[in-house]
Amino acid sequence: MCGIVGYVGERNSLDVLMGGLRRLEYRGYDSAGVAIVDDDGVMETAKRAGKLKVLADELEANPLHRGGTGIGHTRWATHGGPTDGNAHPHLGDEGRLALIHNGIIENFSELKAELLAEGHTFESETDTEVAAVLLGREYQSTGDLRAAFRNTVSRLDGAFTLLAVHRSEPGVVVGARRNSPLVIGLGDGENFLGSDVAAFVEYTKRALAIGQDQIVAITADEVVVTDFYGQPVEVEPFDVAWDASAAEKGGWSSFMRKEVSEQPEAVAKTLLGRVVDDQVVIPELESFGDDELRGIRRITVIACGTASYAGMVAKYAIEQWARVPVEIELSHEFRYREPVLDDHTLVVSISQSGETMDTLMAVKYAREQGARTISICNTQGATIPRESDAVVYTHAGPEVAVASTKAFVAQIAALYLFGLHLARVRGTLSAEEIAVQLHELQAVPEKLELVLAESEKVAQLAHWMADTRSVLFLGRHVGYPIALEGALKLKELAYIHAEGFAAGELKHGPIALIEPGQPVFVVVPSPRGSATLHPKVVSNIQEIRARGARVIAIAEAGDAAVLPFADEVLRIPLAAPLFEPLLAVVPLQIFAMELSQAKGLDVDQPRNLAKSVTVE
Ligand code: F6R
Repeated sequence: MCGIVGYVGERNSLDVLMGGLRRLEYRGYDSAGVAIVDDDGVMETAKRAGKLKVLADELEANPLHRGGTGIGHTRWATHGGPTDGNAHPHLGDEGRLALIHNGIIENFSELKAELLAEGHTFESETDTEVAAVLLGREYQSTGDLRAAFRNTVSRLDGAFTLLAVHRSEPGVVVGARRNSPLVIGLGDGENFLGSDVAAFVEYTKRALAIGQDQIVAITADEVVVTDFYGQPVEVEPFDVAWDASAAEKGGWSSFMRKEVSEQPEAVAKTLLGRVVDDQVVIPELESFGDDELRGIRRITVIACGTASYAGMVAKYAIEQWARVPVEIELSHEFRYREPVLDDHTLVVSISQSGETMDTLMAVKYAREQGARTISICNTQGATIPRESDAVVYTHAGPEVAVASTKAFVAQIAALYLFGLHLARVRGTLSAEEIAVQLHELQAVPEKLELVLAESEKVAQLAHWMADTRSVLFLGRHVGYPIALEGALKLKELAYIHAEGFAAGELKHGPIALIEPGQPVFVVVPSPRGSATLHPKVVSNIQEIRARGARVIAIAEAGDAAVLPFADEVLRIPLAAPLFEPLLAVVPLQIFAMELSQAKGLDVDQPRNLAKSVTVE
């Protein structure tokens, strides 16, 4: 939520900032702005409500001067609507200082009252301007941007990443972070700051992860990180695994279309090197000894949105394989209900971005209560892995489209590996049984290619249904979270009312929604693998069909039992039941994407959303 980029070096910083903002725009796209300082201390700013393109057009019409130091921001509005005035940067020290911010300053009203009483004035409704004015006041008393930062952050409550430049200190960008992301990119004769590595991956793959409550000052040749009291701290270096091209659209019409097509690779890369001689090898879990994993009595999975549905799918697999109870909880609910945790509870968080504030807070809370934590994450240098006892990375590559697709299948793949690892340690599956499951998992990328090859049929269906006002999704067992995910995708991308249900729950209420013509997607379990469930789902289909529903079945190739009752059948390749969700989700993703495009909507940047939700 909000993308931040900073640069000091020989290049024209505006080019670096605009490139970085383009790659960070998924974090928020209500407005954007930049501030540039040249060697003589001349500072210029530009900011505009609307997508980055609006700012880019403005800069083309009214170019800024060249400067080697700059900060840039793309906004997801919290305090104050998306207007030019509320866009960042905000100014302090009588216009000599520019500041950008990601997060929420919870005590901004008190601070604003204090500053107003001192005679300071404000031009926006934002909490950010309060930080800018406060920083300006502190600059006036210290004459040093780093010292002013230290004084300022000690007054702020809430979550923030702040970056600032000052006319009197050309060649310096200072930043601070608490509960919001910030990473450093190390160049030769230039340095970068970004909300995530996508901001600078085009220029460098050497990065440093800034810890909690730290301040960083970059110049072209130096990076200095201290704590909030000015004491130097060690920072963790890492090499960025992503390619710059991976965060580009390439020839695709949208990031989402590209990312949907990358799902076979996302799963394959997540498995790469982790299956050796038919056994699971996860070196990242070495800090968890076998005795500890054997002693686990309960697993709590915490996540939000699509990531939570990956957790729901994995629950079925982990319970079946490792015979340990697994509960899924939305991070924001978990954190505030005093959950029962002990040292036999393992808390597994799932987050593509690794920055979701709700999940971060839940992980911290779980650790405070003594639980051990594992993070399933897709983004290097992110905060949640650093706050966890161990991290298993998904290797889906950068996911730029706001709606999660390839990260979802990679999350399930990583969780399945973890489940099979647990099953070996706990002795609940034999080596042969594990090998069978691993073969199924390794076959998923190829089967995903087959599903993708059928995209055209789904696209046609979506185009026929472009005027649909409501769609329901049904599934049982692992098909249930897929029904929920199908509904979420349709809501967020096509702004259509959609709901997912456990098919068995239908007759307990939701069946009243069925009227003639109501479209219902049904995720049908395999007749071979789920001999007991398949006929039940077919019965559910008949029940809704009898009431006039228009049924679109997602069914295994060769499943003839659904044919008499379905208006449309979307086929997926044969797979063992636990692996079907990885395939069945794809037509639903494509359906939502195509329907969104048929309605002329922005599939990569749906309204009101941001990719990385860094506020609670
Ligand atoms: C929906 C979607 C969101 C995210 C959720 C968690 O398409 O992308 O529901 O899954 O906001 O985000 P992460 O995984 O970054 O914690």
